[in-house]
Amino acid sequence: MPRFNEHLSSPGPNNPFPGVRVLERQLGHAIPHQLGSNEGLDMPHSALRRHFGDDMVKHVYSYGDSEALGIRQRLAKRYGFRCDELLVDAGCDSLLALVLRATCSLGDCVIATAGTYPTFAYFARGQGCRLIETGYDQTTPQPNDTNHPGLAPDLAALAHEANRHKARLVYVANPDNPSGHLHSDAAISQLRTELPDNCWLLLDEAYNDFRLDAERPSANQPITGVIRCRTLSKAHGLAGLRVGYAIASPEVLAALMKVRIHYAVSTLSQAAAEIVLDHPDETRAHILAVQQRRDTLASQLADLGADVLPSATNFVALRLPSAELADQVHRDMLNAGRLIAKAAHPELGRLLRISALDAALTPNMLDPLTRALPSA
Ligand SMILES: Cc1ncc(COP(=O)(O)O)c(C=O)c1O
Repeated sequence: MPRFNEHLSSPGPNNPFPGVRVLERQLGHAIPHQLGSNEGLDMPHSALRRHFGDDMVKHVYSYGDSEALGIRQRLAKRYGFRCDELLVDAGCDSLLALVLRATCSLGDCVIATAGTYPTFAYFARGQGCRLIETGYDQTTPQPNDTNHPGLAPDLAALAHEANRHKARLVYVANPDNPSGHLHSDAAISQLRTELPDNCWLLLDEAYNDFRLDAERPSANQPITGVIRCRTLSKAHGLAGLRVGYAIASPEVLAALMKVRIHYAVSTLSQAAAEIVLDHPDETRAHILAVQQRRDTLASQLADLGADVLPSATNFVALRLPSAELADQVHRDMLNAGRLIAKAAHPELGRLLRISALDAALTPNMLDPLTRALPSA
């Protein structure tokens, strides 16, 4: 079983300010008069009221629920999780930082794919971890298109390096950004069995909601030795409010809670997330629309001769023949006032990434790109 840092294995540290909401739950009754938290409860907030309305302003005065119970209850109801197997934090990014803080010390070795979602490497380096990167598998044919070599995090290479370097943690984004590749649950389970017992698997599932099998029963289960992280930034449209959640056993989450910034998810973010989760039909319809736009965009680009990668996310990635051409297209798009993403890592210099928004399907929007494609 992977472990947390030594100093977290004994009791404490204990959060000195779990907050009024937690205290109310412990006592089993409401505390209507809050005279002890030194907030600005009597601030008139006329300017804010004029701008956003009274309803919004009522959410800004108090420290929030450090356990985000309302969000966890709704996630549990909507997706079939157990409430005590969920931890809410300020986006998936915050969870990556939190897991690193709880599991890795200065000089500890962590492993990731070179060019995958770069925030993990940024945080790992910032914490003084020794980051070992493995290349993408750029040769394996895609399951649905055997003539088409894909671009997938190389799970065997990750396991090999984890064993070689006695790593504390391996990071995998699944579905992956920027390739869009989806490894099956079986492949992820296999990776887990190949890692050293005391090495964590940090599984970033920010794009899980866009998988066609997003609601499979195994999606709701903690996996031993794995910390799964998800977000409301993508399919729920709340990136600016910063809400993400981790799925793991209660024991694992209790250790993470010891080093979590307790009010990181604001009261307003929690209130908004609860409203969105109370209206699952809107999210379902949105996901369906995104999947359709993604597939339309992919087939339009493929018809123009682009090397489009299969995507289980809310974006489409394509490989141009050279990094120079990708740079040129990216610049031309930007000069036309249109920002698409170009993978920053030199290993993925040929890769461009486009969000599956309506705007991307607007006629002529992608002209600087499509002009560079073989059948243009
Ligand atoms: C793989 C991956 N993980 C995490 C994130 C960030 O998620 P959040 O907004 O919840 O921090 C992103 C955002 O693009 C992502 O692509």
